[in-house]
Amino acid sequence: MTPSRATTDTFPELPLFDLRLEEQDLEAVAQTLRSGWLTLGPRTAAFEEAFAAHLGARHAVALSSCTAALHLAYLAAGVGPGDEVIVPSFTFAATAAAALYCGATPVFAEIVSRERPSLDPADVAPRITPRTKAVCAVHYAGYPAAVERLRGLCDEYGIALVEDVAHAPSATFAGRKLGTWGLAGAFSFFSNKVLSVGEGGLLCTDSDEVAAFVRARRSHGMTSGTWDRHRGRTDTYDVVGLGYNYRLDEPRAALLLSRLERLEADIARRRELTLRYRALLADVAGILVPFADADVPDSSCYVMPIMIERDGRQAQVSARLRERGIQTSIFYPSIHRFSAYRERFPDVSLPITELASRTELTLPLYPHMTYADQDRVVAALTEALAR
Ligand SMILES: Cc1ncc(COP(=O)(O)O)c(C=O)c1O
Repeated sequence: MTPSRATTDTFPELPLFDLRLEEQDLEAVAQTLRSGWLTLGPRTAAFEEAFAAHLGARHAVALSSCTAALHLAYLAAGVGPGDEVIVPSFTFAATAAAALYCGATPVFAEIVSRERPSLDPADVAPRITPRTKAVCAVHYAGYPAAVERLRGLCDEYGIALVEDVAHAPSATFAGRKLGTWGLAGAFSFFSNKVLSVGEGGLLCTDSDEVAAFVRARRSHGMTSGTWDRHRGRTDTYDVVGLGYNYRLDEPRAALLLSRLERLEADIARRRELTLRYRALLADVAGILVPFADADVPDSSCYVMPIMIERDGRQAQVSARLRERGIQTSIFYPSIHRFSAYRERFPDVSLPITELASRTELTLPLYPHMTYADQDRVVAALTEALAR
């Protein structure tokens, strides 16, 4: 269906991301609203079961956001005050902020290269100290980070591997779904994500202990939920630890369940568009295309990043595309260069990450994008770079 636009602005004509819901999605939400039960209940449980089966994971716990999932994953890994969590800086701020929530220090490590902008295991190893409790692998743009090597490294040092799978639902490495390689995987259902419902997240794990911990902590550390009490299963509860309100609500769980049915088809279209982008961009002078040699069937193809070869042109190229009605973004500014982090971590220097942040541009990509839209983006980019 064609949605009514959230804004009447004419920019962007060609947005970075666009969401199209189907009639069945709207009906699923309407039915939930009519049911009279709106928070953590049967639809959330059904979504958890479906998503765990989809991943091949033992447990999936729905949460209010990926940030909440990262926070609880770090806590489950035993991260506390004085500890360290090794994270990339070429990611969204939440990957590092969640370590700070635990009273721990995020230790920033390098990416491999601008062609492969994910956490470099060779740079992680020397940063491990007796205080390191976890390493977080981010599957940037939907492409697998070096999970096998990172898992090996974590096992060697007896620390936890956490996966930030915000970009990569349904993506795989060596035939195994991302999110299932470490202690826990943290997914996002935020507005612009592959499986978006506005706000939402999920933690998957094969550990019964971690799943029980996360289930309790997402709802104030209580031993039973409101839904259990509503059904008369119990009329009391204990609080067994410091908990949070990290619950998902039922309308969004219903929307997730409905959208999950089309996830593979949506990703198949993203992969097709990504391959077509790669072919078109191969003829564009002055850019690098990250993961250009990576197999698209391993990736969820969440975004289409490019790197401008020459430093210092990012703002200009982005502005020129904007003049043509095309929205771009930067995935990502280096976390350690943000004001709040620079004050805390003034000595961090990551030259590859910083260059990537200064030269990256993310191009529009969404399943119902047309070939004509893509041609328009590539033509405008070519022109912007040539000027
Ligand atoms: C890599 C990464 N990690 C974590 C997050 C946080 O996700 P959420 O908004 O669901 O908390 C995002 C979302 O933008 C992300 O891109």
